[in-house]
Amino acid sequence: MSHNAIDVIRAKRDGNRLTDAQIDWVIDAYTRGAVADEQMSALAMAIFLNGMTAEETARWTAAMVASGEHLDLSAVTRPTVDKHSTGGVGDKITLPLAPLVAACGAAVPQLSGRGLGHTGGTLDKLESIPGWRANLSTAEITAQLNSVGAVVCAATEGLAPADRKLYALRDVTGTVEAIPLIASSIMSKKIAEGAQSLVLDVKSGTGAFMKTEADARRLAEALVAIGKANGLNISALLTDMSVPLGRAVGNAVEVAESVEVLKGNGPADVTELTIALAREMLALAGVDTDPAPVLASGQAYETWSRMISAQGGNPEAPLPTPAHVHLVEAQEDGVLAELDAYAVGVAAWRLGAGRARKEDPVQHAAGILCHAKPGDRVTKGQPLLELHTNTEDAIPAALAALDGGYRIAESAPETKPLLLDTLRG
Ligand code: URA
Repeated sequence: MSHNAIDVIRAKRDGNRLTDAQIDWVIDAYTRGAVADEQMSALAMAIFLNGMTAEETARWTAAMVASGEHLDLSAVTRPTVDKHSTGGVGDKITLPLAPLVAACGAAVPQLSGRGLGHTGGTLDKLESIPGWRANLSTAEITAQLNSVGAVVCAATEGLAPADRKLYALRDVTGTVEAIPLIASSIMSKKIAEGAQSLVLDVKSGTGAFMKTEADARRLAEALVAIGKANGLNISALLTDMSVPLGRAVGNAVEVAESVEVLKGNGPADVTELTIALAREMLALAGVDTDPAPVLASGQAYETWSRMISAQGGNPEAPLPTPAHVHLVEAQEDGVLAELDAYAVGVAAWRLGAGRARKEDPVQHAAGILCHAKPGDRVTKGQPLLELHTNTEDAIPAALAALDGGYRIAESAPETKPLLLDTLRG
């Protein structure tokens, strides 16, 4: 049966469910250029306003997966399991997590992106390591999954091209914030990556994409439903992102902190989340190993070194250091009552850790070290934050972002737990 874009737009405008055939046709025709941007904009707005059912969203996702390549991991001998985080400030969890899960016996194909805006990108962080290479062929990915068990590399252009085109269109038509569109966008890329199991880290709070726990839960439910409908073993952790994760925010500083986690000396929150996600990933993959003793034994650190070396990096090489360091000191005695993730994320970004446009370079040495976290007692004059940058004139704008982003009080505040809930598929 032939379709036309106007009928599909009218159907969704009038609040009807799109048929599987309409969905398959419109995604394919849009990818080929046979449906115009203005028609897809109208359809995206109709979806934004009228929503899609769980079945429509699952079909929409499958059609976006079918628009491009499907990574073939059939030559990988271990069970494959991936993790996706909706993004946060100081979220370096992939770095210790991938080698930890590999050291426990599963294979982790982690195809990642670069940072845009106030949350950092995993590839930008790893590129702080001298020699490390992000672009691998499918044959290299498969070989490394069999030899080391973990790969963190760039997603190829051929994965879910419909999503790349639609995401750029949503960005300029006010249609990003629709849960069926966000969920199908995330899951199309993850399904195309070909892992058998997937654990999601869906964050809420000032530093996250979803500001409230209720919205994060709705997104997590939509993501899990799509994964199930497309044959994945899937679960989601709901986690807090109102405070930066760990003490390091940026690129090289986050690599250094991840190495500390792998050597058993990392901050408690990063270690806790790494182990919680590893447990969930191993359970989905059917591997009966407790990751906590594997982390403590140093085996995960060994796997990290092999993972970095396999991609041309030198895990022992010194990391880049900044040309300028600026300390922000406590103005009074008391307890750090608040350290806002968004403020710290924007400040690190302005120091050069992130980029404003996709084609901009990042400074690997830029970032922030948080010398105190909420609940810590501080004394007047003590350094609270250490700003790193190669561009000294970026410091005033970073300080402006931090203005009002931290607060010292007389007593310790109630802190939110890091792990809020787990949704299982
Ligand atoms: N991340 C994605 O990949 N897609 C969205 O739509 C939003 C966040």
